[in-house]
Amino acid sequence: MSTILVLNSSLSGEASVSNILVADTLAALKASHPGAKVITRDLASNPLPHLTPATVAGVRTVASTPAEIEARALADGLVAELNAADVVVIGAPMYNFSIPTTLRAWFDHVVRPGVTFTYEGGAPKGLVANKPVIVVEARGGLYSEGPARAVDFQEPYLRHLLGFIGLTDVTFIRAEKIGYGPEARDAAIAGAKAEIARVLARDLPKAA
Ligand SMILES: Cc1cc2nc3c(=O)[nH]c(=O)nc-3n(C[C@H](O)[C@H](O)[C@H](O)COP(=O)(O)O)c2cc1C
Repeated sequence: MSTILVLNSSLSGEASVSNILVADTLAALKASHPGAKVITRDLASNPLPHLTPATVAGVRTVASTPAEIEARALADGLVAELNAADVVVIGAPMYNFSIPTTLRAWFDHVVRPGVTFTYEGGAPKGLVANKPVIVVEARGGLYSEGPARAVDFQEPYLRHLLGFIGLTDVTFIRAEKIGYGPEARDAAIAGAKAEIARVLARDLPKAA
């Protein structure tokens, strides 16, 4: 493994559970792959712009105005980072039952016809070379079981988006019940850290 792409998207800085767990994942990856290059995008402190008419024109037609050329360069750069990565680590808080808009903006720039996906025989085909993706999810409530499962628009959405561009080797690490108080938060972090250690020991050396 030579390159690790890290995407953080929590607004909570050092208090963020997903940031803590992404840092834990990254530390473990770096320990087992000391020479790896790390590309980090903190989408909360350095948010990508929302798509604009210039973005769509620049990316989906021939970029001609300065705004279109700039938008094209940004999108191409983000795709290049993704393509260069051997492993992708994503920190994804649950916001309003889904993902932060900053993370959604990253997908908006990266999910591009003819570049990261196409259609073949009427079926979608991802164009990004498959690679391990670890998604750390932090949620205030409990969604992996029970009545709120039906309103988890975070994990199924991320699984679909990643798979749509070819990334099907996705491991979700869940830290749930963060909003239930400090003890529940600590237990969720400890459980997620143990899961990260298990996943990295089991899967990544052969997958990456
Ligand atoms: C804007 C916002 C929206 C949220 N929406 C939800 C939600 O829909 N469901 C939920 O269980 N928790 C929700 N939460 C709680 C977060 O998922 C929880 O605090 C989680 O730990 C956030 O991840 P982080 O600690 O990495 O920032 C929300 C928090 C914020 C700030």
